[in-house]
Amino acid sequence: VEVRLADYAPPAYLVDTVDLTFELGETATMVVSKLSVRRNPAAPDDAPLHLDGEALTLVDVTCNGAPVTPVETRDGLTITDVPATAVLEITTSLTPIANTEFSGLYVSGGNYYTQCEAQGFRRITYFPDRPDVMSRYTTTIIADKAACPVMLSNGNPGPVKDLGDGRHGITWTDPHPKPCYLFALVAGDLVSVKDSFTTRSGRHVDLAIYVRRGDEDRCAHAMQALKTSMAWDEQVFGLEYDLDVFNIAAVSDFNMGAMENKGLNVFNTKYVLARPETATDVDYQGIETVIAHEYFHNWTGNRVTCRDWFQLSLKEGLTVYRDQEFSADQSSRAVKRIGDVRGLRAAQFREDAGPLAHPVQPSAYMAIDNFYTATVYNKGAEVIRMMATIIGRQAFRRGMDLYFARHDNQAVTIDDFVQAMQDASGVDLTAFKRWYHQAGTPDVSVEDSYDAAAKRYTLTISQETKPTPGQPEKLPLVIPVAMGLLDGNGQELATRLEGEAAAKPGTRVLLATQATNRFEFVDVASPPVPSLLRDFSAPVKLSGLSPERLRFLAAHDTDPFVRWDSGQQVAASVLLDMVATFQQGRQPGVDPALFEAVGSLLDQEPAFAAEALALPGESTLADKMTVVDVDAIHTARDRARTAIGQALYDRLRATYDRLSDTGPYRIDGASIGRRSLRNGCLSYLVASGDAAAVRLAKAQFDAGQNMTDVLAALGILSGVDCPERLDALAAFYQAWRHDPLVLDKWFAIQALSPLPDTVQAVQALKAHADFDLRNPNRIRALISSFAGNQVRFHDPSGAGYRLYADTIIQLDPTNGQVAARMVSPLGQWRRYDAARQALMKQELQRILDLPNLSRNTFEMASKSLA
Ligand code: ARG
Ligand code: ZN
Repeated sequence: VEVRLADYAPPAYLVDTVDLTFELGETATMVVSKLSVRRNPAAPDDAPLHLDGEALTLVDVTCNGAPVTPVETRDGLTITDVPATAVLEITTSLTPIANTEFSGLYVSGGNYYTQCEAQGFRRITYFPDRPDVMSRYTTTIIADKAACPVMLSNGNPGPVKDLGDGRHGITWTDPHPKPCYLFALVAGDLVSVKDSFTTRSGRHVDLAIYVRRGDEDRCAHAMQALKTSMAWDEQVFGLEYDLDVFNIAAVSDFNMGAMENKGLNVFNTKYVLARPETATDVDYQGIETVIAHEYFHNWTGNRVTCRDWFQLSLKEGLTVYRDQEFSADQSSRAVKRIGDVRGLRAAQFREDAGPLAHPVQPSAYMAIDNFYTATVYNKGAEVIRMMATIIGRQAFRRGMDLYFARHDNQAVTIDDFVQAMQDASGVDLTAFKRWYHQAGTPDVSVEDSYDAAAKRYTLTISQETKPTPGQPEKLPLVIPVAMGLLDGNGQELATRLEGEAAAKPGTRVLLATQATNRFEFVDVASPPVPSLLRDFSAPVKLSGLSPERLRFLAAHDTDPFVRWDSGQQVAASVLLDMVATFQQGRQPGVDPALFEAVGSLLDQEPAFAAEALALPGESTLADKMTVVDVDAIHTARDRARTAIGQALYDRLRATYDRLSDTGPYRIDGASIGRRSLRNGCLSYLVASGDAAAVRLAKAQFDAGQNMTDVLAALGILSGVDCPERLDALAAFYQAWRHDPLVLDKWFAIQALSPLPDTVQAVQALKAHADFDLRNPNRIRALISSFAGNQVRFHDPSGAGYRLYADTIIQLDPTNGQVAARMVSPLGQWRRYDAARQALMKQELQRILDLPNLSRNTFEMASKSLA
């Protein structure tokens, strides 16, 4: 049942052109596919033609006009004796209305949409559904004029023709060869918001965003993000758009975030629609990032694509790196980096530490859709970033140019990408490539010593990666450690390694390549404090600096990331000390140094201060414990927040007042930072236990300035057992019950409440008339959010696990892809106490015992239990 990288073989036949005709109907859609095929010179010349197919009704197949009888296999059709060149015509019939998996062609809100990555095209027609088969497509859509005034596909449109029978038709031509996973069709009663962009070389591009009627006034931010992305890719990478139109369609039933289909991106509405009254700053930023991400795929993914799905990070890691750089250029680079590292640690480090750990380039899978992971995406982006750090930004750009020059219109491998970087830079990256194949997060520890007489400073960096499933032995990695040395006043010391001609000012990069590396610095005038892993230069766990030095770095480092991270480490150790005291049956006090640290942030740059002000989350603290003590962590963090709120009450209140803004909502970095710090203050004020602060939060909620402030207030109130909480939740529901994306927030906020009866509340919300098990956004809002509520998901009764597994079990028959992606929180069982372990395993077993479990969910649950 496993597909293995080692078994890769080129396809027997190539498909040069694909000519598709769709006659759309909800209960019956006819698809005629005309393929011009040709034997692949790179494959053995007796191999039969295999066409993948799933959940299709075959109507007819002909080869060069003559009927053929294919062998129908479990996963498609095999046709023997196809000549060296031939035209195949395949007719299939589909039932889009019955497609609950949202893979292939499906109906949502009466309109038609497709999702083909990774393997949805085989649910539309029989085809060699693998990315190394690249073809030129023409797509004709025929549909009812009233039901489908809009008919979209990839490439450039031809004229709409009236067919005289109440139907009309259009033909789209995509001149760029592409794999079938980039095919898309959208049709229905949609409205569009239009704009245009002129590329650097003068190509006029018509831009349009297609949404359901009534959503037109929520597209401006997405459109702006698209135009900014197009200009950025020209400026930074010299990459221009290559069609006359670029269309985006938003759909509310979507398994993932968005999809980069050539010339027709399809988006989850969550990543398109925004107005200040409905979307938070986080939503606005998510839209900007995802719009950029999908647009950037046009080159990194579409023009140059993946040879096979083991190369997924070739396009995803690289494109995430590109969208991160883009977003960093739009506002504060440091704050963006802090957010990305937060996300990496929460999702990817946790994945690396659990049963589903896998390398950035996996070597086997059962269901490829399970590998759209934080490791492939986010660690993959870190690997690209490290390459850029090691070879330098200019060489990286030359490497990108070389990659496109060599591989445009090809389906290639991760090795091809690294080779281009190596050839363009002259830096040997052979050893570096181990990052792609070795799973697990390296533990990096440092020791140092200073010889005052000789003015020598020795820094020893050691690394070790713990075993992961299937990889018991680990080897050292090439780790770029960006660093500097600070003197006792926080001034940057020049760093000169023994044997180097001149001292270099500022940050430099050390390469740790062995289990232990020693670096000897000379001419170091005073005992330094090392500032390490600046800008988080490698995805590793760093240890070895004393609490005093971390406090010093938090206050003085020139690198904002290290300043933030050191502060978080200090706070984490204070909180974990409190946890230890609880575990000894004593009541801990709160270290007053914490008040000092938080207080000193209030006058700093708001966006940074907001990041630094927030205590490490409960799951972050959990990740630092061998056996997670759910309740002690919750209580310790709660008490610390209460103490901070009480100790700093007046200053927090003054900062809250100072940061208020009665002007119109603005989405620039400064405004986001201001709201974020202000809401951080509000949260501490309420944590203090003061009733006036609760009224302040309720007043902010009632003022209804914008969704960021409304939702922040609602989130704060929903953690307090008070009448204001119920009033606010009821008012929010009344105001937004007809707006799906906003209603998702209402579900999520209740699932995230730390109040003791949250499990029962979530159970009740699952039965709410507005809960819909067919809509992935709604499931994620209620059920996945709940799994992120550590103290309530891990309720000692096991009720949280049960309700979670129940949902997976209910969902799997209709949408195995989304069900499977929900399994991983249960897979964390090894990290909890024996009683919780037993309860979590029992739920995984209950899932595995189901007859007809999807292959996706089987893979995730069996690996989680192993
Ligand atoms: N390529 C898309 C993106 O990252 C993700 C689509 C994945 N969909 C899936 N069903 N596996 O932008
Ligand atoms: Zn992507």
